[in-house]
Amino acid sequence: TRPITLSKLQQMKRNGEKFTCLTCYDATFTHAMNNAGVETILVGDSLGMVVQGQDSTLPVSIDDMCYHTAAVKRGNSHAFIMTDMPFMSYSTPTQALDNAAKLMQAGANMVKLEGGSWLSDTIRLLSERGIPVCAHLGLTPQAVHKLGGYKVQGKDKAAADLILKESLELVSAGADILLYECIPSELGKSLTETVPVPVIGIGAGADTDAQVLVMHDMLGINIGRPAKFVKNFLTNGRTIEDAFTAYVTEVKNGTFPAAEHTFDA
Ligand code: KIV
Ligand code: NA
Repeated sequence: TRPITLSKLQQMKRNGEKFTCLTCYDATFTHAMNNAGVETILVGDSLGMVVQGQDSTLPVSIDDMCYHTAAVKRGNSHAFIMTDMPFMSYSTPTQALDNAAKLMQAGANMVKLEGGSWLSDTIRLLSERGIPVCAHLGLTPQAVHKLGGYKVQGKDKAAADLILKESLELVSAGADILLYECIPSELGKSLTETVPVPVIGIGAGADTDAQVLVMHDMLGINIGRPAKFVKNFLTNGRTIEDAFTAYVTEVKNGTFPAAEHTFDA
């Protein structure tokens, strides 16, 4: 199988062909996701919660992200690997460049940063230096204490307009992919139609160019109550690899996410 590249993902958006993403933190699950046809793998800082047992993503370090990126890279045949920059590893453009370089050398194909307009200078620098960037907007878990919990974002018109404005700023700064977490479906749809880059959603409705879920969530092994946007695919006597395949099938044919997994304004 040919490697999935950023150009391929852009082409899929142009063709209206949905692509898939799952989080992954090790080599063996990466291999199973490759077999199932998952195009993009996110080494998410959610590993702080699902692997390390932390109660948020804030304690995760750049070394943790490099370790898991290297493990995923060794297990990967052809998926596009995105890695989260952890909390406070990109507070200034130069700090971001140093840390993004570490992740790229560990095997990432793209780095993901949480935030809005304030990220413009950082994204411009990374982009100029040849590092592809995904910007994560909407519910940004590294800001959970400022947001006052894991809440749906962009519910009123002013908040929705701000997300659009910041998205366009980040795209002009060089962001290659946008990821929206927990926004109303209608907003997810209009953003996806408006921005020129591929859009990945989680709790952002069925109309984004791609979907992502945390692997543990979609295998039904969360600690605690799963979020509304989560669906357990490890059902009907499936193997883990079959569960990944079912997820790919349901995202591509538009069965997942269903209305019950989405938010209204
Ligand atoms: O860390 C993560 O798993 C993420 C996804 C939920 C988008 O950022
Ligand atoms: Na993350």
